[in-house]
Amino acid sequence: MDVVICKTYDELSRRAAAVVAGLVNHKPNAVLGFATGSSPVGLYKDLIRRHREEGLDFSKVTTFNLDEYVGLPGDHPQSYRFFMNDNLFDHINVPKQNTHVPSGTSANHRAFCEWYEKRIRECGGIDLQVLGIGSDGHIAFNEPGSSLGSRTRMVTLTEQTLDDNARFFQKKADVPRHAISMGVGTVLEARRCVMVVNGKGKAPALAAAAEGPVTTMITASALQLHPDTVVFCDEDAAGQLKMGDYYRWIQKQADKTE
Ligand code: F6R
Repeated sequence: MDVVICKTYDELSRRAAAVVAGLVNHKPNAVLGFATGSSPVGLYKDLIRRHREEGLDFSKVTTFNLDEYVGLPGDHPQSYRFFMNDNLFDHINVPKQNTHVPSGTSANHRAFCEWYEKRIRECGGIDLQVLGIGSDGHIAFNEPGSSLGSRTRMVTLTEQTLDDNARFFQKKADVPRHAISMGVGTVLEARRCVMVVNGKGKAPALAAAAEGPVTTMITASALQLHPDTVVFCDEDAAGQLKMGDYYRWIQKQADKTE
């Protein structure tokens, strides 16, 4: 896992967006995996800017999102489908029919999850997966204890995640307790992973994920087993990394040779 420590949220967002844009330029029909939440908003803003100013073309791209709340239809302002339309899809030229967000309202969740996995395979697998990390160390909604081989399924959110996500709802009781989430195993099959992490609140989770043991208790730690993962974080999120100076030194050398 490569860790790139950036000075600001803006810088980490731009660097992460450059990786996504580089792939789309190189492979116009790339399959992109997207995340919701606060962390990738800056990355999405920069992709929109690149589309408008540089003509970054998403017309052949296919997308798969990590997760969706059970019970929220796509037109609910707190649903992740709504979030993706609002923060990215409505502002770029990706055909809506090429965008996949798990359904939180299907009649048969198990059948839907099987279909979602099949659809990812049919599209050739995910070339690049964008990720955030929960303060409890989750990727997607794979809460502590999730199998590192897990697939897309219905999950139960922890109290900590409900607390963290209450800020998007009027009150905590409105946060759905269940979600449909890609599994850790599904995420690990992406050819490349780009994780964006910012803020002091994420420092313990990032340190555990990048430098702690690989454990189901911090599902992001499974990314240590992934052959091509890069984490873009800010100084606040990097605050508890033991090897922070080492990562900064490596990045300085890489920036010099660019
Ligand atoms: C969202 C997702 C989650 C978030 C994580 C961090 O699709 O899968 O794992 O990435 O909860 O959320 P934020 O960025 O809001 O702190």
